[in-house]
Amino acid sequence: MKSHNLDKDTRAELFDVLLENSFIGITITDEKGEIVVVNEAQSRITNIPIVESIGANMESYVESNYISQSASMQVIQDKKRVVINQKLSAGKSHVVEGIPVMDDADHIKYTVNFLLDESELEEAKQEIETVSSDKEKLFNKYQELLEILNEQEDIIYQSKVMRDIVYLASRVADRDVAVLITGPSGSGKELIANLLHEKSRRKTRPFVKINCSAIPEQLLESELFGYEPGAFTGGAPKGKAGLLEYADGGSILLDEIGEMPMQLQAKLLRVLQDQQVRRIGSTKDIKVDVRIIASTNADLKKLIAEKKFREDLYYRINIVDIKMPGLDKRREDIPLLIAHFEKRFNQKYNFNKKFSIDAINYLMGLDYCGNVRELQNIVERLIVQSSNDVITLEEAFAAMGILTIEEDGEGRRELIKVEEEMSLKKIMEQYERKILLHYKKVYGKGTVMAEKLKTDQATISRKLKKYGL
Ligand SMILES: Nc1ncnc2c1ncn2[C@@H]1O[C@H](COP(=O)(O)OP(=O)(O)OP(=O)(O)O)[C@@H](O)[C@H]1O
Ligand SMILES: [Mg+2]
Repeated sequence: MKSHNLDKDTRAELFDVLLENSFIGITITDEKGEIVVVNEAQSRITNIPIVESIGANMESYVESNYISQSASMQVIQDKKRVVINQKLSAGKSHVVEGIPVMDDADHIKYTVNFLLDESELEEAKQEIETVSSDKEKLFNKYQELLEILNEQEDIIYQSKVMRDIVYLASRVADRDVAVLITGPSGSGKELIANLLHEKSRRKTRPFVKINCSAIPEQLLESELFGYEPGAFTGGAPKGKAGLLEYADGGSILLDEIGEMPMQLQAKLLRVLQDQQVRRIGSTKDIKVDVRIIASTNADLKKLIAEKKFREDLYYRINIVDIKMPGLDKRREDIPLLIAHFEKRFNQKYNFNKKFSIDAINYLMGLDYCGNVRELQNIVERLIVQSSNDVITLEEAFAAMGILTIEEDGEGRRELIKVEEEMSLKKIMEQYERKILLHYKKVYGKGTVMAEKLKTDQATISRKLKKYGL
């Protein structure tokens, strides 16, 4: 360590500054493992208030299973530097480095421990990656992504939200709990349902998918529950087993469950509670062992309030709730998805086309109301339509129906998406939104934006609200 000839007080003051501003968690214990110093970062990462830590003993943390092992206790025992992987009871895990401070007689006086929160590091890393729009970096990143891609099979992602979702889904796949998958259209709900089935021991048994909104009520009932001979005119003479029976031992996906008629909801609730189905026109219950997965992009809570969905059923199907985020919540997945679809459609159409980095960069910035499905369509369209092996930015614009409005002196283009039959008002609104978004990014504050745009703050805030910015 190097320092000027600092007096004791200055050193003490600087020590405090170091301690309080470090993003690394720091704990100092005495020779018995009792905590004598702890900093903010440590308290934030471990969720233990500083006042509770001071005076606590590391050994007792281990004994009460609060932490899996203690770096200080190991330092005290081994009298040397250690690096351990520590798990907290809350589920997080950290790398902790412990260092001994010895006295002249070679006895431990203190242990100093540094704790690094891996998830914080990971988040910081992701943030940097997302924010960076530097082309070269993007290109390198893209190469890296292609490698990741080779390892992923069906569900393509890179974002932490998706990683957490896939992890959660894999963990619950083999438990027989009901799972509700919610999320906007095209976000991958069905893919998660597939994963739940594929990773369960039910995978050798049928996986039945039924879309509750696509089938008329009566038919839906007979499809799900089956019927006895003579239950309807025109029914099969021997009657028919329903899908719930057919799926015995397997799983069933009830897609758009929000659209299920109330009366069927009551019947379904029975299946969930008693694991039994009764065919239409029968008095006999049949035991079935089916894992129910429900999915919807509707707001079930709202449907409950409107008395269109049974609350008791909601709690039954919602033991585990998986919320799929829209693509706008995980933009970092976009390049990987593009690469994935590029590969898939090149294979399908026997092409060898590539997206230019500009085109990828541009596609990354778009809003996809149809989420992954929409992105997939765009990539397919571009692969099929482009006349070159490299898909250019211009082609990407064209695929999105974008007109090049005008160029400024430096060759920059102002872009707005113009759809057929759009009114001038709508086009102007889009333009206005773009301008406000740009100013907001550059200036941040409403007051400054108003000043720069030579208008008043009330107008700015009203417009920001209007465009949801
Ligand atoms: N993470 C992903 N990786 C690869 N493909 C994806 C991913 N997410 C979605 N897709 C693809 O996008 C399309 C839509 O996905 P899926 O059918 O699972 O969405 P959904 O949420 O069930 O949509 P909807 O609400 O319209 O039923 C599918 O072709 C699917 O293969
Ligand atoms: Mg679906």
